[in-house]
Amino acid sequence: MSAAAPQHTDETPAFNGQPPADFPIDRSLKIYEETLKDEFTNNVINAMGPATAPRTREIFTSLIRHLHAFAREVNLLTPEWFYGINQLNKMGQMSDEKRNEAVLVSDVVGLEALVDHITQAHILHTSHGATPSAILGPFYRENSPRYPNGGDIVQKHFEGEETALVHGRVIDIHTKQPLAGVTIEVWHTAPNGLYEQQDPEQPEFNLRGTVVSDEDGRYAFKCLKPTSYPIPYDGPAGDILQAQGRHPMRPGHIHWRVTKPGYGSLITQIYDRQDKYTYNDSVFGVKDELVVDFVECKTGEAKWELVYDITLSLDKETAKLQGL
Ligand code: BEZ
Ligand code: FE
Repeated sequence: MSAAAPQHTDETPAFNGQPPADFPIDRSLKIYEETLKDEFTNNVINAMGPATAPRTREIFTSLIRHLHAFAREVNLLTPEWFYGINQLNKMGQMSDEKRNEAVLVSDVVGLEALVDHITQAHILHTSHGATPSAILGPFYRENSPRYPNGGDIVQKHFEGEETALVHGRVIDIHTKQPLAGVTIEVWHTAPNGLYEQQDPEQPEFNLRGTVVSDEDGRYAFKCLKPTSYPIPYDGPAGDILQAQGRHPMRPGHIHWRVTKPGYGSLITQIYDRQDKYTYNDSVFGVKDELVVDFVECKTGEAKWELVYDITLSLDKETAKLQGL
């Protein structure tokens, strides 16, 4: 499901980027395959010195082989290589503490989602049934305001917004017991499609908050029912989408970072089943287990209610795989 290419629709925004130029290629020229292949590529790989760490050697050996094979397969020409180099430079120039264009580029080609699947496969090997992780994306901020359980993370209201109460329990996958003292950080966009750091009209840390599970593992917070939004598409990531005839939309989602100090963290997202982009995500991040149903809130505390239990595998092995 999540691997299907997002389709463009008429309602999605237009782009500004320039697609790469089209070059005529003489595909009968096989010089790279026949003369340079093994010797040239092996020379580059063998240039690594004896002190190269084993994992570094493994990664670079494979990276060089695949990069060279890619260049040969498509007959990569100098102007095309240079276009790519310029795009890499642009990624760096556009990035700062509020924007990470390299993450965006990695997302639109499905790399962050793939790496998440690979990492998750290692974690689930020992923790089957734990809540799956999802991509972090580029908009996480540390130190969001701490709220008491049930607190409201909405600081600025928007016309047409729909309020939501989200609550549930945090359970340990191994003991099946509730987990107290688990820090839950959540963040999502405003109905205008922007995270607070992208939008000067929103107060600092709007729609971001931290709650901590109580003695029974229970947590709760109020937010807005998340709406779909375009990822930033005015840079190299947008150029890729445009060149491939794709839209920039993500389905409505809430991001989570769930931490128990000293035991690693779960980074994940939940997706609204009703959102039309849930099965058509521009960054391929949706996993079936993370698609949820908001239901009408009967207590009047909000328009919608979501009951969401989190099953955690917070142990030293998990932490190691996450580089924590
Ligand atoms: C996000 O969910 O915030 C996100 C993920 C990937 C790219 C851009 C945004
Ligand atoms: Fe997001």
